[in-house]
Amino acid sequence: IKHNSSQRRCFSLDSGRASTLNLRSEVGDIMQKAITKSFPTLDDGLVSKMTRIDPSPVAHFQTAAAIGLSRSTGKTTDEVVNSIIQSVDVGENSIIHSILVNPGNPRMEIFLKDEKVAAVVQHMAKLRETSEGDHRLCLKEILQTDQPKKALVDFGSPNMCKQLHVGHLRTIILGDSICRILEFMGHDVERISHVGDFGLPVAMTIRQALDHDMDFTRPGALEDPTRWPTPSHLTQIYAEAKKRAQSDPSFAERSQKTSKSMQKIDSAEEEVRRSWHVLCASSRRGFGKKVFERLNVVSEERGESFYAPLLDGVTQELIDKKLCVESQGAMVVFLHGHKTPVIVRKSDGAYLYATTDLAAIKHRISSGKDWIVYITDDGQKLHFDQVFSVAKLAGWLDETKKVIHIGTGVIKSNFSPSPDVLILTDTEGKKLSSRDGSPYPLEDLLNEAISKVVTKPDLLQERKSQLSQLELSEAIAFNALKYFDLCHSRDYIFSPESMLSFKGNTAVYLMYAYARICSVRRNLTSKGEHIISTSALPVFTEPEEMALSLALSRFPEQMLNLERTLTPQYLCEYLYDVATKFHSFYGACRIVGEPQQESRLQLCVATEAVILTGFHLLGFTTADVI
Ligand code: ARG
Repeated sequence: IKHNSSQRRCFSLDSGRASTLNLRSEVGDIMQKAITKSFPTLDDGLVSKMTRIDPSPVAHFQTAAAIGLSRSTGKTTDEVVNSIIQSVDVGENSIIHSILVNPGNPRMEIFLKDEKVAAVVQHMAKLRETSEGDHRLCLKEILQTDQPKKALVDFGSPNMCKQLHVGHLRTIILGDSICRILEFMGHDVERISHVGDFGLPVAMTIRQALDHDMDFTRPGALEDPTRWPTPSHLTQIYAEAKKRAQSDPSFAERSQKTSKSMQKIDSAEEEVRRSWHVLCASSRRGFGKKVFERLNVVSEERGESFYAPLLDGVTQELIDKKLCVESQGAMVVFLHGHKTPVIVRKSDGAYLYATTDLAAIKHRISSGKDWIVYITDDGQKLHFDQVFSVAKLAGWLDETKKVIHIGTGVIKSNFSPSPDVLILTDTEGKKLSSRDGSPYPLEDLLNEAISKVVTKPDLLQERKSQLSQLELSEAIAFNALKYFDLCHSRDYIFSPESMLSFKGNTAVYLMYAYARICSVRRNLTSKGEHIISTSALPVFTEPEEMALSLALSRFPEQMLNLERTLTPQYLCEYLYDVATKFHSFYGACRIVGEPQQESRLQLCVATEAVILTGFHLLGFTTADVI
């Protein structure tokens, strides 16, 4: 899959905090000071905007600030570069060692002092060696904030009565990883599944079940789970109801009425209410909960029905604020730049998906959330744009709050794992779907991934794990699947083969790096005690050591970037870089028994800390699988 950089997200959820170990921002500060010293009349804001520090292929960092400065000062780039260089602090406390420039090239190549980079590595290694609880959280303290935000992440929200499909995989995995990133950065995160427990599909299913007097619609069924419909029965009732609604107008109309009556669920007909509870309970048991548990993802269910009591009030408020007006019997909000209005209440008095989201956003803001993140497929972008616009007009949302919608791409397929189910497609891939065009069930995809692991004995070999072969296969498959999903920000082709490859940017490649570190640990100690014995600053001389240590020292900067962009894909790119540099280091440098053993162990342990953190943030199953 080609990566289209213009589609990268950038939200700037800035918590306004820096890490003391952030080398990149420290370089930025020093360079800014030098620029201000050279050109004292320039505006500070302008200087800070122009001083962009980037990673460099030849040095540690680079900046092209001279280009903009030459324009603002009327001097040539060579003149600008020369005067900045004179002013750069390279004193004892500065982290900058030297700056390289080639005449005619305005780019300044910045080199750091080796010992400053080594100090970051040493600090991270120490945190791992002294951590007593969960090692995956050992680096958390580097990034703690004194301004924790209250965040709510709305993700993994299937609809009742329906099986989860592959589209849900992406929002569940992405949402979980984003929650983990925010939690790791010290924020207070509420994880919410805004499940579709109201609306026409649920109402149709209820009507169908009532029309056929199914046992679970009768009194007492809720208390007796053996009477609840099984997942396949539920799927069948829903499919029949959907088909019937297309050919039987009176059924469609009765379902509409039921749907509307459910918006006041307490005064709905007794049998409707009873069946609704059973359908929700059995959907939860058969679909949602099961998948969340298998993927080890936690989220609290707070479905659309939760907001039903608020819908009248929200609508009235929008009417009072003169935002909501009547149009052909319906109540709607016209938005600047949108052709069609947002329908808040239909002419028959029924509320819609958008109304619930308006009530939800108001509720969330008034309960004190600073950041609200919604994760769904791309198709709902317009819906959220509209909801956010109305919330702003209504005065619920102001500059102090950030609301964001993150859309995911689709999973495609160009192969046929089980020929009965999948449509074979061309090499570009088509949306992964079942033969009849319906969404491909998520559970089938999970099982497909597991069965692929089972056929790869090298993945399962020699693992000192307490887990059974099946549990192990499941864990490896899900780690691989999560990683594969998160490292693609857009559409991708589902390929168990590449997902489980030892080469390339895969979970397996990372797990392999981690396994190597574990074996170093095992060689030195049988009981997993500490392997670093001195507190001396490590010294690195080989290029592979230097490259790895620099990559590791970028951890704080990477985390701050992740917090700002909420794009776990960047984490995958970073971890891949660290693992690649670790494998080169491991190939080039002997560790045990060498004079550099101590320094090199610090590199191993710091790498271990970064990789374990990565596993945690990506939602991997715990390390004993690896
Ligand atoms: N249930 C919806 C769906 O499956 C997603 C809900 C997203 N969250 C929200 N607040 N609308 O498409």
